[in-house]
Amino acid sequence: MQQHSGDTLLVDGYQRRFEYLRLSLTEQCNFRCQYCLPDGYHPDRTNQFLAMPEIKRVINAFSELGVKKVRLTGGEPTLRRDFTDIISSIADYSSIKEIALTTNGSRLYHNIAQWKDAGLTSLNVSIDSFSPQQFALITGENKLHQVMRGIDKAFEVGMAKIKINTVLMRGVNDDLSYCLPWLKEHNVDLRFIELMETGEGQSYFKRYHMSGEKIEQQLLKQGWQLMVKEGLSGPAKVYQHTDYLGRIGLIMPYAKNFCQSCNRLRISAIGKLHYCLFGDSAIELRDLLSNDGQKILLQQRILNSLKMKPETHFLHQHDAGITQNLSFIGG
Ligand code: 5AD
Ligand code: SF4
Repeated sequence: MQQHSGDTLLVDGYQRRFEYLRLSLTEQCNFRCQYCLPDGYHPDRTNQFLAMPEIKRVINAFSELGVKKVRLTGGEPTLRRDFTDIISSIADYSSIKEIALTTNGSRLYHNIAQWKDAGLTSLNVSIDSFSPQQFALITGENKLHQVMRGIDKAFEVGMAKIKINTVLMRGVNDDLSYCLPWLKEHNVDLRFIELMETGEGQSYFKRYHMSGEKIEQQLLKQGWQLMVKEGLSGPAKVYQHTDYLGRIGLIMPYAKNFCQSCNRLRISAIGKLHYCLFGDSAIELRDLLSNDGQKILLQQRILNSLKMKPETHFLHQHDAGITQNLSFIGG
């Protein structure tokens, strides 16, 4: 099933196109972010994460259907021992133009050079606070310094696209004065992501959720300007300012029409296709990943399931679907 003229076959019933696949490599994590895994990761022996041959088959099937960008996520994807090999094997597919990583940054400093050589093209690092104490409180790890050192290293080895993810929390990190000095000097996109309600995170959500609009208002007051969106950029609204090398983005899943610009599909670490982060079901793919001979069946299942992708999530009704926390699918 070869796509024609570089176009994607992955289109849903609402004319949304999906050239971007987020692949979770593990549910394991070495941080304990309060909104995600406050008690840390507890291994579930029944969960075997996708093995290299299965990962290759997923990528092969989706790349033929038109996926051009793959993001590796988790849990903390870099905890996998074969992580560098995974990057290399995805880089072998010439139609995949971008290989991105979402990481907590704990292993960045020692490994980013190697990952870049293997074919990594862009990097998202989570930093929820620029205060070391606050960072330790949120993540359970006193590692802001280590993460920042990793980001410096990423610049040093020439990573071109670096983004910072900050989960916006009321009274915790909604004061822009902590991140602005750093953004003056660093060519990054810092994106505030509205805290999303998950099955396990309800009380945390009630206490800390705030709308990104409040940040937007501060930005506009200080002379920041909204940028025009480019190609595969997705639902973030990005602001720039002539005095700053960096930009500030807002990801506001609670805003009206957020889902209209959805451009991504997700595969969990155990091989299920989630067409919405907050859907109430997922499509099993793993039974079709054990040998190359099932590729056509796999592609048909993917295409059929896309027809069921709903127009929007139901977060407004406080319905997070089957999503207990985001450690199995990486946001
Ligand atoms: N709401 C918003 N973002 C979340 N993440 C994890 N859980 C949540 C949540 N409940 C983010 C992480 C990271 C990305 C993988 O997902 O902070 O930036
Ligand atoms: Fe780990 Fe990311 Fe969850 Fe934090 S948000 S506990 S870094 S998976």
